[in-house]
Amino acid sequence: MKRIILDTDLAMGAPGSDIDDGFALALAHADPDLRLELITTVNGNTDVESATILTGELARRLDLGDVPIVKGAAAAFTHPEVRRNPAAEVLALRAGARPATDGYAAVEIARHVMAHPGEITIVAIGPLTNVAAALLLEPRLAENVAEIVIMGGIFFGTMPDRTMPGEFNVWVDPEAAAAVLRSGAPLRWVGLDVTLQVRLTTADAERMRDARTPFAPFAGESALAWIAHLNPHEPEGRGDSCAMHDPLAVAVVTHPELVTFVDAHVSVVTGDGEARGVMITDLLRSDTAPPANCRVAASVDAPAFTEHFLNLVGGL
Ligand code: BDR
Ligand code: CA
Repeated sequence: MKRIILDTDLAMGAPGSDIDDGFALALAHADPDLRLELITTVNGNTDVESATILTGELARRLDLGDVPIVKGAAAAFTHPEVRRNPAAEVLALRAGARPATDGYAAVEIARHVMAHPGEITIVAIGPLTNVAAALLLEPRLAENVAEIVIMGGIFFGTMPDRTMPGEFNVWVDPEAAAAVLRSGAPLRWVGLDVTLQVRLTTADAERMRDARTPFAPFAGESALAWIAHLNPHEPEGRGDSCAMHDPLAVAVVTHPELVTFVDAHVSVVTGDGEARGVMITDLLRSDTAPPANCRVAASVDAPAFTEHFLNLVGGL
């Protein structure tokens, strides 16, 4: 049994919003080999207030029981202009949503890991602000966390996008990503070049919509709306499917065989400039290579992931 903290910038439920954090939460709840012990929210896909309301709303829908939801960072370390405000549609959900537990995400992450040395895996599926803050508050966290699994970064190539040549989660807060990379904690990165290969198709979403479980019809409708919203010219959009970035990071905790990882020394470009958020990956092929500071995803068994996901979340 793997015990996890899920750190998320969940926006599922807001109009036109990415669904993959929501699907990752659903997968973490459905996987019988995972125990979800704490959910923390962070600024990213949406503002942290909205992420907290929407996580509470999804927790109600999924019947998550008493897993605490704790609100985290409202902005990145150095670029707070990424922050937005809750939309009226999101505020309207607040009354019915599971309320957040008092506290601060970074403090609760540090407290929970230190209370169970070597037992807790952090799965980070948004910008790394909370995780970096937790590591700064409690440096012993690095040697007491079982592992930190991160959806983020691009390690094998670049994206043809001048606004954001790197990957979103790292681009929002590269200073936080740098702190995590420096921490010495055991890190596994599931990067965008691999997550773009795991796709939920329109046909999959239609099957989910018609499945007879409490969650699958809502999940199927949400996926169909997100696929329709995606611009086919963006790396994400391929007309009839959407990428399952964050669920893949959850899946590898209990199913490491789905993804091949390789040792690497990774650093990240911080500060201003066109390369902000780009990862510099050294695959340790030369004699002068620095020591590895993480493992990065190199390939994925996409059909096996899809089967696992549709089985547990899609009710298929
Ligand atoms: C990441 O950015 C977000 O839009 C997704 O939820 C995922 O965590 C992919 O780049
Ligand atoms: Ca995310």
